[in-house]
Amino acid sequence: MRNVLVTGGAGFIGSNFIHYLLRTEPDVRVVNLDALTYAGSLENLKGLPDEKRHTFVEGSITDRPLVDRLFAEYTIDTVIHFAAESHVDRSILDPGVFVQTNVIGTFTLLEAARKAWLVDKLVPVETARFHHVSTDEVFGTLSKTEPPFEEETRYQPRSPYAASKASSDHFVRAYNITYGLPVTISNCSNNYGPRQFPEKLIPLMILNAVNGRPLPVYGDGMQIRDWLYVDDHCEAIWKVVTQGRVGETYCVGGDNQPPNIEIVHTICDILDELRPGSVFAPHEKLITHVADRPGHDRRYDINIEKIHTELGWSPRYSLKTGLADTVQWYLENPEWVSAIMEQSDYGRWVKRNYEDRKGQA
Ligand code: NAD
Ligand code: TYD
Repeated sequence: MRNVLVTGGAGFIGSNFIHYLLRTEPDVRVVNLDALTYAGSLENLKGLPDEKRHTFVEGSITDRPLVDRLFAEYTIDTVIHFAAESHVDRSILDPGVFVQTNVIGTFTLLEAARKAWLVDKLVPVETARFHHVSTDEVFGTLSKTEPPFEEETRYQPRSPYAASKASSDHFVRAYNITYGLPVTISNCSNNYGPRQFPEKLIPLMILNAVNGRPLPVYGDGMQIRDWLYVDDHCEAIWKVVTQGRVGETYCVGGDNQPPNIEIVHTICDILDELRPGSVFAPHEKLITHVADRPGHDRRYDINIEKIHTELGWSPRYSLKTGLADTVQWYLENPEWVSAIMEQSDYGRWVKRNYEDRKGQA
């Protein structure tokens, strides 16, 4: 049995990861530490396969005594660290909490792992692994012609979110080099799929379109992201944890780079097809260009050659299938949507982020 501490497992990717792990791996037990911020919800943990192998603990990764207790009590040998503040727009409005959670929180976990594995030797260090889930945003932005990001690309974060993730990546690497902590890091592109909090582009556009609300495209909508279906990311993470080399970084992505405006049009087309009788069809009538994000990264693209050749991973979902499944999921889960919006004071966020953008495109 492997005893896995998942941090941030009530959030989007963390909860999908726990569903994935319990579904595919019979020999793991999961302890899920999550502070249940606006982005985390127990709704995301409903219907877990083989639920008795999952223990939920409400608390913060910055709480050192709590984290120490979890390492000892559950003989943790594997950490998969998702917990973070994850939204660029919120980091522009409130950067402080990003430093607390993403930098101090990661540092706290690293210290606890160092104590448990290298000082107290609670498990043999050869069997231990600390996996840090990071983002391609640490590499900054690409011009039209620059080659994709890869593992050796220089860090040039440009938003408070990206800067806090970059800082946490540096700490994780330093703990490997300085203390020999067995770490791996993955830097992944934009995820989408079921249970994503509707502040992010894809669920926001789906839910606004279904409800006949404007679809707020920042600036000209020609910014480019690489999109990965969340289950593909979960598979990549588990491959890195179980087969990746200690001390290494792996870039993960979906091998596609459409401009944002194309994603929004595709969502509208899928909805037109699924709901031809909707009074809001054709949904693209709802597209509205609004004021751009300050310091908006123009283009991301990521080279997945290393994880493909070393670990045999490549994405299973095409963007077309993944988007169709995602739209379908949001249409089929209105109770999840209402619960999440209510718990997180969603209306307040929408007002704060979008009110001043109107008419400024
Ligand atoms: P999310 O915002 O949906 O979820 C974050 C979770 O962390 C929430 O459940 C929240 O309650 C929890 N959390 C926040 N602060 C905490 C704290 N102090 N202690 C314990 N739990 C806390 O984020 P996500 O989209 O699922 O992203 C997960 C990780 O993946 C993040 O580290 C993010 O940087 C990284 N990542 C995300 C994407 C993406 O497109 N979403 C892409 C690449 C990497
Ligand atoms: P987002 O989902 O916030 O992810 P990230 O900023 O981490 O890439 O945004 C994805 C892209 O969509 C990004 O270029 C910003 C853009 N965007 C909009 O155009 N309108 C919106 O309302 C949101 C939330 C994002």
